[in-house]
Amino acid sequence: MDRISIVGGKALNGSLAISGAKNAALPLMIASLLTPERLTLKNVPNLADVNTLARILRNHGVDLAVDGKRADPSPYLGETFHLTARDIVDTTAPYEMVNRMRASFWVLGPLLARCGEARVSMPGGCAIGTRPVDLHLAGLKALGAEIDIDGGYVVAKARKGLKGARVVFPKVSVGATHAVLMTAALAKGETVIENAAREPEIGDVADCLVKMGARIDGVGTSTLRIQGTSRLEGAVHTVLPDRIETGTYAFAVAAAGGDVELKGARKSLLETAFAALEKTGVGVTETATGVRVSRNSGALEPISVETQPFPGFPTDLQAQLMALMTRANGTSVIRETIFENRFMHVQELVRLGADIQLQGDTAIVKGVKSLRGAQVMATDLRASVSLVIAGLMAEGKTTINRVYHLDRGFERLEQKLSGCGASIERQVSG
Ligand code: UD1
Repeated sequence: MDRISIVGGKALNGSLAISGAKNAALPLMIASLLTPERLTLKNVPNLADVNTLARILRNHGVDLAVDGKRADPSPYLGETFHLTARDIVDTTAPYEMVNRMRASFWVLGPLLARCGEARVSMPGGCAIGTRPVDLHLAGLKALGAEIDIDGGYVVAKARKGLKGARVVFPKVSVGATHAVLMTAALAKGETVIENAAREPEIGDVADCLVKMGARIDGVGTSTLRIQGTSRLEGAVHTVLPDRIETGTYAFAVAAAGGDVELKGARKSLLETAFAALEKTGVGVTETATGVRVSRNSGALEPISVETQPFPGFPTDLQAQLMALMTRANGTSVIRETIFENRFMHVQELVRLGADIQLQGDTAIVKGVKSLRGAQVMATDLRASVSLVIAGLMAEGKTTINRVYHLDRGFERLEQKLSGCGASIERQVSG
């Protein structure tokens, strides 16, 4: 297993390019199942999760061609994927493929809508508390699916086809909103989703579905209205920039000090997190080509933050914020309201000298004068990158083990950071 070593204390300066959003690229790739025609996706990030999903889609019969060599280092353009699901040859998504990544479960609805049946293993993914799929199943049932659980698989059937319905989610779920939105696009009649997630990645998928011939109103609001159609067409769509990667590097610059332009980033996708960062004393300005983040040697002010569905502070940036606040000039209070057990980074940050107390869903982070490098372990995707941020601030060398978690969601992380002056390198295991 690869490791990453960082020698802390170097400021970050220059620019780095933000990739296409993982959390949009995955559902967009899945949307290819909805049409026999070609769906071309531009700006797809080169990530382990994308490759895992590509394998799953190929198994269903999706023909995937990749082109578009990226211009390096800037302007950054990801890969172009051409996905064609002319014939779906297999409606089963097996355990060995689905257990590595939760979002692969989202193929269930589109397969069902297209083929009238689907058999998908219950999901795996990051170990961040129980992550049920009840909302997905309730949504599909409302559209007329019969659902059984058999040997760890969800078996969904819609012998008479799917019919539009009113789906009211009791809780905001990104995945369940994606699932019902995509499925409803091929259901008969109108579907209304109430309490839909408003994450920009949902809007990106909705925009793509509209290009494919779907009719969708209310994009960006918590009520989505979808008029189903019997056939969707091919389309060309560019994946929006990754706001979580943007926030992560913004926090990294705040941690290390310096002045970096995040090229291709869109400030409007991340207002709450940027506002939080500004409260800590970090400069954030929109530029013609992205967002510039700067911090001089001044102290970081502590802040109190609670994670919330969009437009609130994203849970996917909670660990990174916590890493930053370990060095703040006072005590920060960080409450995680989306996932239980999403505090696995705490014990690793403590190994670096952080002072963090956990009280249920809340972390009390007392800023310390310095962190000291140590061996730490990556436990999940976002937790791992919080250790990178801590490593940039720590004195001496920090070695992060099990970095395969990082590769699921961060493309060329070492290159992007070392290009701005960080001392970071990967040791590839033989
Ligand atoms: C997506 C993101 C992930 C992010 C999360 C919350 C992708 C690929 N992943 O994950 O990075 O951290 O949104 O912003 O886009 N829940 C249920 N029943 C369900 C589904 C969810 O109770 O059927 C609960 C979850 O346990 C969690 C909450 O709802 O407590 C939100 O989860 P959800 O928004 O569904 O997360 P994902 O879509 O899995």
